This record gives sequence, C-alpha cells and structure tokens, in this order.
Amino acid sequence: MSASVQRVAVLGGHGKTGRAVCDALADRDVEAVPLGRADWPDLAAAVDGCGAAYVIAPNLHPDEPAYVASALAALTAAGVGRVGYHSVASPYVPAMPHHLGKAASEDLVRRSGLEWTTLQPGAYLQNLDLTGPVDLPYSPDVPFGFLDLDDLGRAAALVLTEDGHAGATYELATRVATVRELAEEAGVEVRRVPDPGTHPWLSAMFAYYDAHGLPVGTRVLAALIGHTPGSS
Ligand SMILES: NC(=O)c1ccc[n+]([C@@H]2O[C@H](COP(=O)([O-])OP(=O)(O)OC[C@H]3O[C@@H](n4cnc5c(N)ncnc54)[C@H](OP(=O)(O)O)[C@@H]3O)[C@@H](O)[C@H]2O)c1
Repeated sequence: MSASVQRVAVLGGHGKTGRAVCDALADRDVEAVPLGRADWPDLAAAVDGCGAAYVIAPNLHPDEPAYVASALAALTAAGVGRVGYHSVASPYVPAMPHHLGKAASEDLVRRSGLEWTTLQPGAYLQNLDLTGPVDLPYSPDVPFGFLDLDDLGRAAALVLTEDGHAGATYELATRVATVRELAEEAGVEVRRVPDPGTHPWLSAMFAYYDAHGLPVGTRVLAALIGHTPGSS
C-alpha cells in the first residue's frame, strides 16, 4: 500500500457503488470520505486532506464530462494527487449516449495531470433481483460480463491505495453469463417485456443489449484481486 494514501474521498459515495468502495477501503483500514450533492458547493474543501479520490457520476447524469471536469478541478485545487474514475465497459459505443459521456470523461481524466486509473465495470450482478420472475426489456440470451459490487469495491480500493496502477484502464467482470442462465440457476422465470420508455438513453441501451449484450473479460479482475472473482 502507498504510505501516503490513508484517506480516500468517494464522490457518489452514498450510492450502491460508492458504498461498496467505502466498505472495501474500510477493510483495508483506509478512511473513506463519502461525498454527495451537499458537498458539491465546496468540493475542494470536502476532498482536502485525502490522498486519493474515486469519482462516480450519478446514473444518467445529463452531462457527465462536466461533472467529471468539476471533480478533477476540485481534486487539483486541493492537491489530491491520485484519482480513480468509474467508467463503464465498452464506453466507446456510438449507439449508447451515456457510454459516450464516459468515453469523453475518460479523456478528461487521462489529460488531468493527476495520477489516474480508470475502471470499466460490466453490469452489476446486483441489478438483477433473482428472488422472483425477472422482467427484461431485451433478449435474455445475449452474453454479459456481470460484476459483483463487492469485487468492484475490492478492485477500486486496491488501485486507489496501492502503487503500480497509474495510467491503467481495467475492464472488470466477475463472470460472463446470459440473464437466462442466471435465472435458471436461481430457479426463477425470465420474461421478455416491452421497453418501458423511461429514458431515451436507457431505450438506446436496451436496443444495443438486445442485439449484442455487453460481454466483458474476467481475467483482469482475477489478476487484480488475486482470487476467483465472486468468492469471498
Ligand atoms: N448499474 C450498473 O450496472 C453500472 C455498471 C457500470 C457503471 N455504472 C455506473 O455507476 C454509476 C452509478 O452508480 P450508483 O448506481 O451507485 O449511483 P446511485 O446509487 O444513484 O448514487 C448516486 C450518488 O451520486 C450522488 N449524486 C446524485 N446526483 C448528484 C449530482 N447532481 N451531483 C453530485 N452528486 C450527485 C448521490 O448523492 P447524495 O448522497 O446527495 O444522494 C449519491 O451519492 C453511474 O455512473 C453508472 O453509469 C453502473
């Protein structure tokens, strides 16, 4: 572990992703500082004294590059030298506008002058409620690289607190499976439903998923966290 990183700011730290990162930092005896909307008016003050920060944008932020640019400016002003950016697997997909927002944000992170690492997580296993029938607005038979949030937390805590990850971009998945396979393992039914049309970016994502899924390799995560992903 880098001796200088004993306190880490987690932007978006009260959400489900942020909580997994904060828990994994605590497991390493590193102080996590979860930050939310109330901290944005003076973000530089909120991150002051941290050796690193993990930047998670809220879901479907209308302008993620602007959010990330503000975060990077605050880190720079406060002298926080190390940043981890929470991107997504396959950010460079023209058909998915919110992925492209992350691709543009990755570019800002790379050019920030900070010591950066980008994580590209697959779809969270925890997105699926397998306690009952699964309603899905896309094909249940396409492959996804699913990521367990505990594994994401471990990987993030590692790159934020250990040396050797500067300038790295890691695609992360715990396992590759179709939703039908996961549903069958859980003994629940999977039902194809129409797109509810809640957000145009989600509709674009469902259309892309329907045709291609979102496969992600699992070897990088296994190499990073040093054991079979998904096992504790
Ligand atoms: N779900 C997936 O499978 C998946 C896969 C890959 C990547 N991702 C990415 O993960 C991120 C979402 O993580 P999540 O689901 O953990 O989010 P979440 O649970 O919705 O958490 C939202 C967090 O962001 C903060 N926030 C909300 N609006 C904000 C604003 N306008 N300005 C500043 N902070 C704001 C909230 O602050 P308060 O504490 O004030 O409420 C909270 O801490 C997204 O970038 C998404 O693209 C998700």
